[in-house]
Amino acid sequence: MLAKGDFFANSSSPHHLGRQSASQILSVTDSLKDFFQLSKFDVFYHSGTTEAFNTFILNYVLQQRPFLFVYSPLDHQCVLANRQRVERMGGSCLALLHDENGDLQLEQSLKLIEEQKRKTNLPVFVNYTWVNNETGVCWPLENALKIKKAVSAIIHVDATQSIGKIAKDRELLAELDLYSYSAHKFGGMKGVGWSFVKDLGLWQPIMLGGSQQKLRSSTMNNLSIISIAMALDELKENKNDQLAQQLNQFKQELAQVIGQAGQVLCLHSQNTNCNTLSFFLKKYPAQMLIPLFEAQQLVVSSGSACSSGTSQGSHVMNALGHGQWARNLIRISLDPTIKSEQCQNLQKATVALIQKLI
Ligand SMILES: Cc1ncc(COP(=O)(O)O)c(C=O)c1O
Repeated sequence: MLAKGDFFANSSSPHHLGRQSASQILSVTDSLKDFFQLSKFDVFYHSGTTEAFNTFILNYVLQQRPFLFVYSPLDHQCVLANRQRVERMGGSCLALLHDENGDLQLEQSLKLIEEQKRKTNLPVFVNYTWVNNETGVCWPLENALKIKKAVSAIIHVDATQSIGKIAKDRELLAELDLYSYSAHKFGGMKGVGWSFVKDLGLWQPIMLGGSQQKLRSSTMNNLSIISIAMALDELKENKNDQLAQQLNQFKQELAQVIGQAGQVLCLHSQNTNCNTLSFFLKKYPAQMLIPLFEAQQLVVSSGSACSSGTSQGSHVMNALGHGQWARNLIRISLDPTIKSEQCQNLQKATVALIQKLI
């Protein structure tokens, strides 16, 4: 339990309680740099990756610096929604290429970026999603570094889905420029996150006011910031391998049962996380399936939480060539603390339900 008196004060207040809050935030910052071995980076706290990404891209837009924006159609909507802004201010957008398993096609993508850079002579800013939230497919950071080296790009890594979900979650590359996180993805509070920023001097705040941070005004959310360190502490023991094996068995069995009636997404990807399984049945929209899972006390989602309310369904399904069934995507996310027996029960219940339906 957190003691109220210890954490209550505004970290910008000059009195000793304020200084105490400020020093707690500093110690979280130190533990983040230590955990991820990025001692030379600055830490910028915000409300989550959506705010972080918008802050970085709006830097170009507000300063009217046209640029070549490289993204993937599989990226989160907080990235994709910015394409129009970029084009309106005279910049240009270019999509990275991927195959049917959601893996990056690096060589072909590099060719396109180099060609476009030659044509436009614009600086390149890349959003590189490390782990996809709908498919669980992981794109190695080494490929982002290759892009950076080829065209001197600034690389923003959307690292939101990495912590606790891939074996190399702590192995960040110091050559890349920006990494953004949301705390609620690994057990911290909702509405708080942070970015590692390599060169703070390149960026301006979007929200002006009290200058609490170089990149953001507004009173610091110290309780939520402390939750980041607490959640990371819980994750120190990495059980990725065991979970990944179980998930793989689950995927294989489900794919067999589904057969031609649908598909388990990205089943043959080269590299996936340990907790995301997405599938669709051609005959059943997610809206029909979710209550059937719920009747068995199983909580599943449809695509990403932010697109579940939209009528178009999952943009990731479109990007993977399954647009016809974009509203049918079901995503099962395993809690990283799930016990082996619980996972087996979930697998049995899911398989039994699908068998009844097809
Ligand atoms: C890959 C990815 N990027 C960005 C975000 C946006 O995070 P937030 O809603 O915390 O700002 C999410 C959230 O689901 C995500 O999964």
